[in-house]
Amino acid sequence: MRVREAYVSDDSRGRVLVIDDDESIERLVEAMLSHQGFEVSRCGDYTQAKARALEAQVEVVMVDLHLAEQSGLDVLDAVKQAKPEVEVIVMTGDATARNAMAAVKRGAWDVVTKPFESFADVAATVGKAADRCRLRRHASELERLVMAPRPDALVGESESMLEVFRLIERVSRSSSTVLITGESGTGKELVANAIHKRSARARSAFVAVNCSALTPTLLESELFGHVKGSFTGATKNKRGLFEAAHGGTLFLDEIGDMPLATQVHLLRALQEGEVRPVGSTSSVKVDVRVIAATNAELKRAIAAGRFREDLFYRINVVAIPLPALRTRPDDVPRLAQHFLTDAAQRSRKLISRFSPEALRLLVNAPWPGNVRELQNVVERAVVLAQGDEIGPELLPPTLTAPPPAPPVDDAPLVPLHDARRAFERDYVARALRAAGGDVSAAAVLAGVDASVFKKLVKVARAVDNPVDAPRALAS
Ligand SMILES: Nc1ncnc2c1ncn2[C@@H]1O[C@H](COP(=O)(O)OP(=O)(O)OP(=O)(O)O)[C@@H](O)[C@H]1O
Ligand SMILES: [Mg+2]
Repeated sequence: MRVREAYVSDDSRGRVLVIDDDESIERLVEAMLSHQGFEVSRCGDYTQAKARALEAQVEVVMVDLHLAEQSGLDVLDAVKQAKPEVEVIVMTGDATARNAMAAVKRGAWDVVTKPFESFADVAATVGKAADRCRLRRHASELERLVMAPRPDALVGESESMLEVFRLIERVSRSSSTVLITGESGTGKELVANAIHKRSARARSAFVAVNCSALTPTLLESELFGHVKGSFTGATKNKRGLFEAAHGGTLFLDEIGDMPLATQVHLLRALQEGEVRPVGSTSSVKVDVRVIAATNAELKRAIAAGRFREDLFYRINVVAIPLPALRTRPDDVPRLAQHFLTDAAQRSRKLISRFSPEALRLLVNAPWPGNVRELQNVVERAVVLAQGDEIGPELLPPTLTAPPPAPPVDDAPLVPLHDARRAFERDYVARALRAAGGDVSAAAVLAGVDASVFKKLVKVARAVDNPVDAPRALAS
């Protein structure tokens, strides 16, 4: 046995599994190590040695080199492969240099000779092995925390975001198609990515395509690929993104803007699990999970004939609606702090917090651009900041300016009835403009029943042009 310095430390205790086909040895080691403050378990049934070594929650495994039915080296190999941080000490009655070398080469922490010359030495060896294992576990935990891709973290603790997280966990376990909806900047792409990373497909590609950024021809060939000569500019065969995402996830952003012809091909790809490159006569099998996102009301696009209803049902297997930031102000402080820490780290500045007044402004802002806008505001403040705190003076004037004062009206006072009519006429005109002339959509925007809105339209037109009023009502 190698002579090691006695090692006495409060940390020298650890959990140890002893495996020997000689029960008296197991008992002896157990008694000796327990006495030294270790938590010891025995294998009991050495035919189960490997399985027991793999399932045991321990820092150190002590295994006999010659078990009756298998070699201790097999146990060593299995442990080192499945749990490399666990240390294995090989016990042998035959510690020839060759045996010892073989064990150490295969990753054993040490080799101890039976019968034991010094219990203290064995305990010291076990103690060091346990320490080493704990250190490695601690280091990998730290590494996990430090190396975690922080900018990807999804932040939120509002009830509505907790519901989103629950949905993410649930869909991550399957390969079903997901439709993420939400206003611009609410985190649709981040959520799609989070689903991919938590899924069994995480090791394969996450491919994102923005369906509104490409011309119809280009989108078609980007998604499905093309063969040489299939259109002007197709000078060689090209693999599509569906194929590039094989085994992984394809994120179709702004799916509401996908041209109808491409929708047909997408539906086919989803149903058949195969794609046909533009200009090709044969199809290619693909295994791709599709996650789609939209900030538009797809139901309205269906009604307008711009989106296929069958495709909608095919992609809307699981729907994840993302709440607008203004509906969850309790998430703002956390998000703001998250972006602050991130931006400060990147610009190597020691800014750690917001002043209470700045935080109040952030929480109360309407955030039409949602989380992305908040992120931009924080990043800008970090760039401008000189101290260690972000005060209101570093926030954009739109957040700090008091709400606009009501317009001063010098016009002569008209009767309330006429003033209300004039306001309603302007309001109706604005709502119709915003809804592209669609009366039902304008009613939704105005938050009233279509019948109520139609009446307002009628009255408004009667005010503008008494002769046209009956036509307005008929529409
Ligand atoms: N819950 C969140 N936690 C942390 N960061 C977030 C969160 N939601 C959004 N973000 C960040 O806000 C930015 C906008 O998010 P993302 O691009 O996912 O939004 P989107 O809904 O896809 O927007 P658009 O509709 O404009 O494409 C990104 O930088 C993203 O990292
Ligand atoms: Mg997006």
